[in-house]
Amino acid sequence: MNRNQAETSSSSTSAYHGFAPLKIRGRSVLPIVQGGMGVGISAHRLAGSVAREGAVGTIASIDLRHHHADLTAACKADPSRETLEQANLTALAREIRSARALSEGRGMIAVNVMKAVSAHADYVRVACEEGADAIVMGAGLPLDLPDLTAGHDIALIPILSDSRGVNLVLKKWMKKGRLPDAIVIEHPAHAGGHLGVTDVADMNNERFEFARVLEELEAVFATLGIARSDVPVIVGGGINSHEAVRAWLTAGANGVQIGTPFAVTEEGDAHPEFKRVLAEATPEDIVEFVSVTGLPARAVKTPWLMRYLRNEDRIRTKIGARKQTCPTALECLSVCGLRDGIEKFGHFCIDTRLAAALRGDVGNGLFFRGREKLPFGAAIRSVRELIELLLTGTTKTAAAGC
Ligand SMILES: Cc1cc2nc3c(=O)[nH]c(=O)nc-3n(C[C@H](O)[C@H](O)[C@H](O)COP(=O)(O)O)c2cc1C
Repeated sequence: MNRNQAETSSSSTSAYHGFAPLKIRGRSVLPIVQGGMGVGISAHRLAGSVAREGAVGTIASIDLRHHHADLTAACKADPSRETLEQANLTALAREIRSARALSEGRGMIAVNVMKAVSAHADYVRVACEEGADAIVMGAGLPLDLPDLTAGHDIALIPILSDSRGVNLVLKKWMKKGRLPDAIVIEHPAHAGGHLGVTDVADMNNERFEFARVLEELEAVFATLGIARSDVPVIVGGGINSHEAVRAWLTAGANGVQIGTPFAVTEEGDAHPEFKRVLAEATPEDIVEFVSVTGLPARAVKTPWLMRYLRNEDRIRTKIGARKQTCPTALECLSVCGLRDGIEKFGHFCIDTRLAAALRGDVGNGLFFRGREKLPFGAAIRSVRELIELLLTGTTKTAAAGC
């Protein structure tokens, strides 16, 4: 057995899997990254449980106050923007500490920050101050991330979709004397939540194919004088089986990022109804639409979303170009189709809808989901079983069931 192929010593997932560890900023972890999922879908319980197994657990930083009764009460008593923002920063700090305690020092705790969120710099600051191991930034180009984290020893991981985006970020960051500690390549045709394309019609473009990106990145790294081994590449979107994990790790990826299958685990931080809706959705139940961020997004066709999409044209014509007061006072996005009256963007309050989904309100929530079938079908299983299945093709429990 090759030393690189030995089971990573940090792992408590007992089964031997034979994959090389993912090495990020000097740490060796299992080659599995649990993607950040807001609002509150991946908080401390999910991220800490994934890290405890020796993999990368990611807390989605956006709007975590919903998990803290005292903070939601304070926000109700004083619904001002300052109180809401402070509550979210306090909640993020608490979630990082709890995830770290749960992880028992294994794996890595990452914090996902969306560039499109107005408080992104504050979330980055709290992640650094609370000693998160990594910041994973998507939904916009993270060009200022090295400046925002200067002086902190923290891994920086941009989320991009094609080699062009990687080339751009590498060039800008190299001028600042920094390389990403890893890069996530997310496929817009498969992933859940916001997608890295400006137009839904573009999501099947060949430039997003993992095999093509992996090949093109060899040339990008060579041109910039970077050794391929210096920047691990993690692919994500639709990876839902041991065969898919094996295929991409064999094809040159150093890790895989997985979202929806983790959202529906026992340890997932959302309400059981949220997990049920995602787990029971069939391919026909999933739809792409334009979000208030202006980016396309993918979600389950739940009653509110179907109602909204039926009326989308009418809403756009009637109030699309009219500015509105932010319904929550949080002003969560730097640019919001509803608040700023941008006609071709979505027109709904994303924060309200995602928070409703988190608490399992099937009638009113927005339920982000990836496009593919789930590894355990509609069954809700533990983080450990999921990681075991992805790495080895079986789980002890599943085998006993057979
Ligand atoms: C419910 C849900 C919420 C998500 N929220 C975020 C988010 O806040 N930030 C982000 O960068 N990606 C987000 N994503 C994307 C995931 O992190 C992950 O990259 C993606 O879902 C991978 O595809 P998969 O679900 O097919 O595994 C979200 C995905 C889901 C399903």
